[in-house]
Amino acid sequence: MFKLVFKQFKSKSTSPDLTEVVRIDDSVVKGIDQQHSDNNIVQRILFSNVESLQTMPGIKSPKDWRSYTLTNHPGIIVIRNPFSERGRRYWIARCLRDYPRTPNIVNLNERLFDESIRSDWWKQLSLCSDANEFQRIKSAMRWTTFGYHHNWDTKIYDEEMQSPFPEDFNSLCRLFAQALGYSDFKPEAAIVNYYPLGSTLSGHTDHSEPNKSAPLFSFSFGQTAIFLIGGRTLEEKPTAIYLQCGDVMIMSGESRLCYHAVPRIIKTQTSATLTLINEDVDDVDIGTNSMDKDLFHDVGNPQFWEPFSSYMDDSRVNINVRQVLNPGELKL
Ligand code: SIN
Repeated sequence: MFKLVFKQFKSKSTSPDLTEVVRIDDSVVKGIDQQHSDNNIVQRILFSNVESLQTMPGIKSPKDWRSYTLTNHPGIIVIRNPFSERGRRYWIARCLRDYPRTPNIVNLNERLFDESIRSDWWKQLSLCSDANEFQRIKSAMRWTTFGYHHNWDTKIYDEEMQSPFPEDFNSLCRLFAQALGYSDFKPEAAIVNYYPLGSTLSGHTDHSEPNKSAPLFSFSFGQTAIFLIGGRTLEEKPTAIYLQCGDVMIMSGESRLCYHAVPRIIKTQTSATLTLINEDVDDVDIGTNSMDKDLFHDVGNPQFWEPFSSYMDDSRVNINVRQVLNPGELKL
């Protein structure tokens, strides 16, 4: 059933029927739970203890977050865009400019791409003046890993295969984990997935981590994904939901080991729809979060932002993070 639904949404020959895709939108915000076929209900939830949470620049106050669960998929939580526009831009720039750099690992094949591109993709892309080569380099980037590197072949983490986990992203993950009551969560492995329009991610479960009970946090930016969340087997019919720019999805509890996939990316945003509210960035206290203050400032500059905006015009970026070790373990 999962594969069939995946195929229907992926199909290029027919337009998929989008009426059943769960849209977490204003009707829920107004207090009316949405009921879909299959009796799937989107419910708004409130987190306790968020009053005392120390938030970060670029993140709205946790008491204003709009968070939802799906009754048919216990453990799935979607926080609808808790970022400010500047916050979204900051994390997009980190995912494009900084994270795909050595010593992080990228998918780019050494037979097809020079070391200079494989070690600093965004820089070389920015320097490239040939339109065909630019497109080739741009569309080839599909993933970056850091922290414990996910091994796509063996699906086994290795103590020796790690790169530093960025402090600012660590703080971001811990903020969301704390809000949900997972104050012991340790972000240890991250995958950034880059999705040009037309790309997909087929159905899979995330079971490589020795720790399978810690939640998985997933941040979406750019164009909208149709995301399928199924059950523990491929037999169960998945639910399709829209993941939009800025959404944070948490796979916790029962859903942590469930099948999921991205069968389609839909273009819903243009740079013109994204306006920057010019917060006074000079007053922002970046200090304890190790955020890059210059970058947080620069993403508000139209010239600096233009190449990022242009990339996101036909792409989606998702960054997901897991805890690998069990509580009390210091290494694999
Ligand atoms: C993944 O499952 O690795 C990524 C999911 C997504 O892109 O939303």
